[in-house]
Amino acid sequence: MIAITLGSGLGQLADEIRADKIIDYSEIDSSLKSTVEGHKGRIVVGELDGIRIAAMQGRIHYYEGYSMQQVVKPFKYMKDELGVDKLILTNAAGGINESFSGGDLMIIRDHISSFVPSPLIGVDLTAETGARFHDMTKVYDEEFSAIIRDEAEKLGRDIKEGVYIQTSGPNFETPAEIKAFRTLGADAVGMSTAVEAMYAHALGIRVCGVSCISNLAAGMSGEPLSHEEVQKIADMTGEFFRTLMRNVIASLKALDIKE
Ligand code: HPA
Repeated sequence: MIAITLGSGLGQLADEIRADKIIDYSEIDSSLKSTVEGHKGRIVVGELDGIRIAAMQGRIHYYEGYSMQQVVKPFKYMKDELGVDKLILTNAAGGINESFSGGDLMIIRDHISSFVPSPLIGVDLTAETGARFHDMTKVYDEEFSAIIRDEAEKLGRDIKEGVYIQTSGPNFETPAEIKAFRTLGADAVGMSTAVEAMYAHALGIRVCGVSCISNLAAGMSGEPLSHEEVQKIADMTGEFFRTLMRNVIASLKALDIKE
């Protein structure tokens, strides 16, 4: 089954699913509830355009005070209980690459998660995956990323591609941090996603990711950053982003039929 994690601007997609099952994160683990405004905390399972999917409406963030092990709990649940084997991660992110503009979409080609703890610390997946040390050479599936690029092109839209760096949040970055991250090779920055991708990949789930560039990162526009601005731009991009994701889901489903 295909799962999609709905970041800022995409939450509405969950309302378009003909749901037959709704799982609150608190049902997966009683310690979990999502606390950020505009983010719900649940998995909606049902049909979208005739395809059965699981959609995470809201995610668990490290900055809410959860451990990284708690942050990734819904992904283990989706694999074990729902049979999820393909995952689309979406988010809103600050653009670090100087050629990006607010409202752009970026396919995540790779990530830097070295500034936050690994969700695999203290979690031994050897029995399930056969590995104690997990390879991260290709976290983001190239076939899936090519599908996203093709579907964007079919809609006549340009799509960027780049490296996502995860910070802990909840503070936005300083201009000096953004300059440093650019030197490290990051194109976009956000407070989620990389650890989710890493964990899902370790579990053997095929992963892809798309960021909505909701703002230029700190120090790049001269404007202060706010959650309201991030939400506003993410919402403005929402319609194209939702259409793109529906088409990508259909193409990922078609892979199953081909196999
Ligand atoms: N920094 C970190 N996270 C974000 C940003 C940002 O500029 N925009 C949206 N999420």
